Amino acid sequence: MKKPLLVLATHNKHKLVEIRKILGPLPYRVVDLEGFPPYTVRETGKTLAENALLKARKGVRRTGHLCLSDDSGLEVKQLKGTPGVYSARYAGPGCSYEDNNRKLLRVLKGVPASRRTAVFRCVVALSSPDGKTRLFEGRIPGRITVESRGKNGFGYDPVFIPRGGDGRTFAEMTLAEKNAFSHRAAAFKKAAAFLTK
Ligand code: IMP
Repeated sequence: MKKPLLVLATHNKHKLVEIRKILGPLPYRVVDLEGFPPYTVRETGKTLAENALLKARKGVRRTGHLCLSDDSGLEVKQLKGTPGVYSARYAGPGCSYEDNNRKLLRVLKGVPASRRTAVFRCVVALSSPDGKTRLFEGRIPGRITVESRGKNGFGYDPVFIPRGGDGRTFAEMTLAEKNAFSHRAAAFKKAAAFLTK
């Protein structure tokens, strides 16, 4: 029998690679948005959960299938939890990952290691054509480096050292190593467990 479709409603190719690896085998055929008519989602939510839901619900409306979507962000304690839901545009509209990292390191210049703690949070929304939704959350505490290190991954990976690791940043780890820790892995693993129940 043909498996039903599960659409990963994200346009971020970096994340797709990560998410497919994390989900593992499911009783669904997991596809991305390629092949569906293109659309955009304005991430107007004030929280990660609101944005994840916006994206998953719109995914269902546009594809007609069960959709998974996520929203994540970096919350820096010294900065009262910012950039948080605004992590992607921290350095302003159209900024690059490098711009964001430079700004973060600049803002934290001179702040001692003990006060450079941060949390990566990810909220995954599952939305189905019958209108049901569910949320799953993952978080990983860590700290912000004083300089960028490593070439792998994306976003704030070069400036984030997860707690419980060996002192390397996410960008100094392989994808498999990062997934052993990451907020996104934790959230999607919860979603995968729910989908295989
Ligand atoms: P998104 O809303 O899940 O796409 O994430 C928002 C922003 O948070 C991204 O543009 C990245 O800057 C940052 N971010 C989210 N997850 C990660 C990660 O795993 N590593 C590094 N940065 C991340």
